[in-house]
Amino acid sequence: MKTAVVFAFLACLAVSALSLAEDEKNSKPPATMSPAFEFSPQTSSVPATTPKPPTTTPKRNYSLTDEKTKVMCVKAHIALQIRLATPKANGTFIVQPDKTNAVGGCQATKVNLTLQFKEGNITFMFNKNTEKVYVDALSFTLNYPLDKKVANGPPYIGKANSTNLFAARIGHSYSCKNESLDMGNGLYLDITHDQMQAFNLTKSNEFGTPDYCPAEKPDYRVAIAVGVTLLVLIIIVVVAYLLGRRKRADGYQSL
Ligand SMILES: *[C@@H]1O[C@H](CO)[C@@H](O)[C@H](O)[C@H]1NC(C)=O
Ligand SMILES: *[C@@H]1O[C@H](CO)[C@@H](O)[C@H](O)[C@H]1NC(C)=O
Ligand SMILES: *[C@@H]1O[C@H](CO)[C@@H](O)[C@H](O)[C@H]1NC(C)=O
Ligand SMILES: *[C@@H]1O[C@H](CO)[C@@H](O)[C@H](O)[C@H]1NC(C)=O
Ligand SMILES: *[C@@H]1O[C@H](CO)[C@@H](O)[C@H](O)[C@H]1NC(C)=O
Ligand SMILES: *[C@@H]1O[C@H](CO)[C@@H](O)[C@H](O)[C@H]1NC(C)=O
Ligand SMILES: *[C@@H]1O[C@H](CO)[C@@H](O)[C@H](O)[C@H]1NC(C)=O
Repeated sequence: MKTAVVFAFLACLAVSALSLAEDEKNSKPPATMSPAFEFSPQTSSVPATTPKPPTTTPKRNYSLTDEKTKVMCVKAHIALQIRLATPKANGTFIVQPDKTNAVGGCQATKVNLTLQFKEGNITFMFNKNTEKVYVDALSFTLNYPLDKKVANGPPYIGKANSTNLFAARIGHSYSCKNESLDMGNGLYLDITHDQMQAFNLTKSNEFGTPDYCPAEKPDYRVAIAVGVTLLVLIIIVVVAYLLGRRKRADGYQSL
């Protein structure tokens, strides 16, 4: 009887531990996002070319083909926005794919991809070494007032310093659902639905196997925590059961 009660109690504990772990998983923000910077709700800073801010940033496949070999050397399936987030000014510019051109050049171990639009451009410099492909320089220039209230407006110039951006193995694609890159001076480049690859695309110009960004690699910590909790509970149950039996045995003896 007592054992049954202990069992029921422990079952409840186990269930609540599981749901706690789930909550923790769901509430965990992507590692690349800084919670201090929220998307600005103001609509005034959306490019004049958009009548209304789209609910999802439009994505597109931008690609470049080597003119000599007719081989596609880079393809990026991305949606981009440039965001200013400082205590004094906020604003977002959403890159409109239908008003954007992909230009640049393909070389044996270097590819430069520039997305040009009326208000500016964004450049990715891809590099290939013996084991991986990565972007070692990312920059943009934007001639658009992100926050009309602020005097020190455009042009906005953003640069990312990292030497290991969008890294993937050769023949693989880089994949990330949502990431935000610090471009300096309170400027961010937000990239969503992100899949890109330079060099060694498939013969039909498709992406290779995705290599996921660190924020999307499976997180085993929650699973391990749940496993350990369950193990501890099982041990407690067994010990409680054995103790209960012994007590009962003692009881019978005293009779
Ligand atoms: C910009 O947004 C941040 C975070 O939402 C807020 O703290 C700040 O006051 C905003 N600044 C302006 C000028 O609206
Ligand atoms: C990018 O590619 C274009 C076209 O091939 C080339 O003219 C330009 O010099 C390249 N830019 C850089 C920075 O390498
Ligand atoms: C990008 O824009 C800047 C500023 O307008 C300009 O100087 C630069 O040449 C542009 N780069 C490309 C590759 O179009
Ligand atoms: C990307 O992540 C941020 C912060 O977690 C969130 O506000 C935004 O809605 C996400 N965007 C997409 C397209 O999932
Ligand atoms: C880039 O590097 C320079 C010098 O190492 C540093 O001063 C600057 O803050 C860095 N910028 C960003 C955006 O990390
Ligand atoms: C990538 O493409 C280059 C040039 O076509 C080729 O030499 C190389 O073997 C390819 N690498 C892989 C890993 O497929
Ligand atoms: C972009 O390329 C991917 C993979 O090749 C394909 O599945 C998708 O339909 C393309 N999207 C657009 C908008 O062309």
